[in-house]
Amino acid sequence: MSGSDSEVVRTSSEEETLAWAREFGKTLKGGDCVLLSGPLGAGKTVVCRGVAQGRGFSGRTGSPTYAIVREYRCEPPIYHVDLYRLPEGADWEEIGLEHYRFSDAITLIEWPERLAGLDLEVTATVELKPVGESGRVISVARCQLPGASA
Ligand SMILES: Nc1ncnc2c1ncn2[C@@H]1O[C@H](COP(=O)(O)OP(=O)(O)OP(=O)(O)O)[C@@H](O)[C@H]1O
Ligand SMILES: [Mg+2]
Repeated sequence: MSGSDSEVVRTSSEEETLAWAREFGKTLKGGDCVLLSGPLGAGKTVVCRGVAQGRGFSGRTGSPTYAIVREYRCEPPIYHVDLYRLPEGADWEEIGLEHYRFSDAITLIEWPERLAGLDLEVTATVELKPVGESGRVISVARCQLPGASA
């Protein structure tokens, strides 16, 4: 497909997914926005943890029970957004996430499907498909943004 570039990676343990995500994280830059999809327990949070580690963050990562957004203080900072608990069709601006849109942080979004009409410049999408107990097929598509050099 022109205008995007994709990659498929297969992992067979959480550690392998983490290792892949650390390297993926190193390719990101401030202002990037990555959407993560896949069913419950697919490994979206594991990928976010790996990205944070790959960017040098050594603190605790994870999906908090109540917060929608967690910030990991590294350079650039990472906003880890988990929209799972939002009602279907929630509005990005109404829930106060507009703030994150034009930031220089790296924004990682789990369950982006919860938002109606997601109007974001997305850098990449990561889709995780479970295969058996501990296999995962990770499909990454990088989106070419207008103005980005080919
Ligand atoms: N190859 C693998 N890669 C990633 N995680 C794996 C793998 N094999 C097993 N797992 C396990 O799958 C689980 C993934 O959990 P994680 O919280 O990352 O999923 P999630 O997609 O974020 O789910 P949710 O939609 O609930 O947020 C972990 O318990 C992890 O140990
Ligand atoms: Mg999660």
